[in-house]
Amino acid sequence: MLLCPPFSSAQTLRAVAARAGLLVGTCVTPEHFNEPQYANTLAREFNMVEPENAMKWRATEPARGEFDFTAGDRIVTFAEAHGMKVRGHNLLWDKYNPGWLATGHFTSPQLAEIMHNHIRTVVQHYAGRVFAWDVVNESFDAHGNIKSTLWYDQPGIGFAGQKTRYIEQAFRWAHEADPKALLFYNDFDVEAVNAKSDAMYAMVRDFRRHGVPIDGVGLQMHLSNLDPSALSSLAANIARFAGLGLQVHITEMDVALPVDHNGQLLHPEDLHRQAQIYRKVAAVCAAQPACTAFQTWGFTDRYSWIPRFTHGAKGQALVFDKNYQPKPADRALLQGLARVTPKVAGERKQECRCGK
Ligand code: G3I
Repeated sequence: MLLCPPFSSAQTLRAVAARAGLLVGTCVTPEHFNEPQYANTLAREFNMVEPENAMKWRATEPARGEFDFTAGDRIVTFAEAHGMKVRGHNLLWDKYNPGWLATGHFTSPQLAEIMHNHIRTVVQHYAGRVFAWDVVNESFDAHGNIKSTLWYDQPGIGFAGQKTRYIEQAFRWAHEADPKALLFYNDFDVEAVNAKSDAMYAMVRDFRRHGVPIDGVGLQMHLSNLDPSALSSLAANIARFAGLGLQVHITEMDVALPVDHNGQLLHPEDLHRQAQIYRKVAAVCAAQPACTAFQTWGFTDRYSWIPRFTHGAKGQALVFDKNYQPKPADRALLQGLARVTPKVAGERKQECRCGK
């Protein structure tokens, strides 16, 4: 039996997700919290938030050893006031690092010390308030090779040439700082079974065998299209990570549509195509107990990284329009999240460290 209630317009994403045993989240920017429609829509519809940029290195350690938690704390405070969980993003990435770090020409021992201090300080600051972290973000290239970065071999923290060893170290330090936090590896273009997700799978299997504290993987899901085979591949991919005892979070879903120079849709019928993509992906997640969270990368077309990133060629990627009105994608997402049996909803485990 599927839980398929008739949806009134008052039915919220978070109410439906809660029935499915799921977290439904969005990335947020605290600068917008004083905009009533932003804050109201966010609190009404979601039970999880993630900082779009506020917990990245450039925000949290703008000068070496000097930490700034102002923006991140605003998000946590907002979330706690509205009964939402906070997903931390991210502790280690080769992008959005402060200038002092990116161009500091540090030695490997210095970098190791800097990285350890950063992870320890940030994770301890949020211990008990951030339930899960993207510990490492986007380390593989499209072929499944480890990218050449500051942290790996430019010059790296001392494990150059040892592939995933620096990632392992980051997870170990994060776990030391907050043994209760769920720890995730997060990447893009790893939704389907492909060379990149194969490499991610091999890393995670190795980590599980050797007791490296990892709890899940984040599949970002930045989409423009979705062919039918992609859905079955997504389902198979989630299943194989579940087979390792991991949780899977959909972490950054959006569906970018072609727009003109005024941001208007080139093909208005795309709104329905977009809605179907949201519905189908959400349904794949909802159907597997290991898929415990579904998150979009923003919720209103008023604020999205897509137009800037595509130089205005794409936009309208989210489920609420610029005026906070629900698009077809919103009701479709709701339907997708509801495609769950009571058995699956009951089996979904939240907020535990798997097998620990
Ligand atoms: O804050 C400055 C502002 O002072 C300045 O005037 C403006 C001029 O461009 O830039 C502002 O900073 C921008 C920042 O977003 C805040 O808007 C940066 O240039 C811009 O690079 C940054 O982009 C973010 C990007 O990550 C890099 O951190 C996007 O908002 C954010 O959506 C994007 O998110 C990533 C995830 O973390 C990882 N997965 C992919 C995803 C999309 O790229």
